[in-house]
Amino acid sequence: MAVDEKDKSTHVGEVFSSVAENYDIMNDAMSIGMHRLWKKILVELASISDDEMVLDIASGTGDIAKLISREYPNTKIFMTDINMDMLSEGRDRSINESFYKNCHFCQLSGEKMPFKNRTFDLITIGFGLRNFTDKEAGLREMRRCLKQNGKLLILEFSKPTNHLFSKIYDWYSFNILPKLGALLANDSDSYQYLAESIRMHPDQEALKSMIIESGFSECKFYNLLNGVVSIHVAYEK
Ligand SMILES: C[S@@+](CC[C@H](N)C(=O)[O-])C[C@H]1O[C@@H](n2cnc3c(N)ncnc32)[C@H](O)[C@@H]1O
Repeated sequence: MAVDEKDKSTHVGEVFSSVAENYDIMNDAMSIGMHRLWKKILVELASISDDEMVLDIASGTGDIAKLISREYPNTKIFMTDINMDMLSEGRDRSINESFYKNCHFCQLSGEKMPFKNRTFDLITIGFGLRNFTDKEAGLREMRRCLKQNGKLLILEFSKPTNHLFSKIYDWYSFNILPKLGALLANDSDSYQYLAESIRMHPDQEALKSMIIESGFSECKFYNLLNGVVSIHVAYEK
């Protein structure tokens, strides 16, 4: 069942409220832990300096903020998410796992943000953009909030480059994923949504074009796991 664009934000809200409690365990199960590596690569590619202002959009349970906070304790990190259930999980975790000291928490939509122009040196967003109702508006906001020479890194599901691999991945997504969701989180619908939302998200080249069209002067992307996910790096000049 494809989700009507008009109802998307309500549906996305329900999905993430429903998965919030089991989000981390499901992430590990679905990707066999590979999402941890992908997030580490994102932080490597960000080449952060220790005193930067960092905005992590769609932070959820805070994996990316945690990595940055641990490695760069003098950065100021804004952990943000539209969904209070997900953000609460992230905030609790930051306290339990002691990475809260340089983190600030803010419930907001990445499509319209309350920050002044040119506030951040770095903006990261992991597996969040796909859920936006208006991705172009989100990208324009990210650009507005970046300082000159600032950097945007987007980690997102993308399109496998190999045809055979793509078939196997489709089979896994529509047969195994919802069953895993049912088994581990008693929630197959949310993981059905995940598989569908991935197929509807722009592929690597299309996202790159959207990023450039929203005003970024330069963008390149890196494929991981045959393009199942990609990291787009964009610069604001
Ligand atoms: C798949 S989770 C990703 C969480 C985390 N970044 C990670 O990589 O594990 C997607 C998150 O995007 C958030 N989200 C969806 N739409 C959003 C929007 N318009 N603005 C900000 N966050 C949004 C959801 O609430 C959810 O927490």
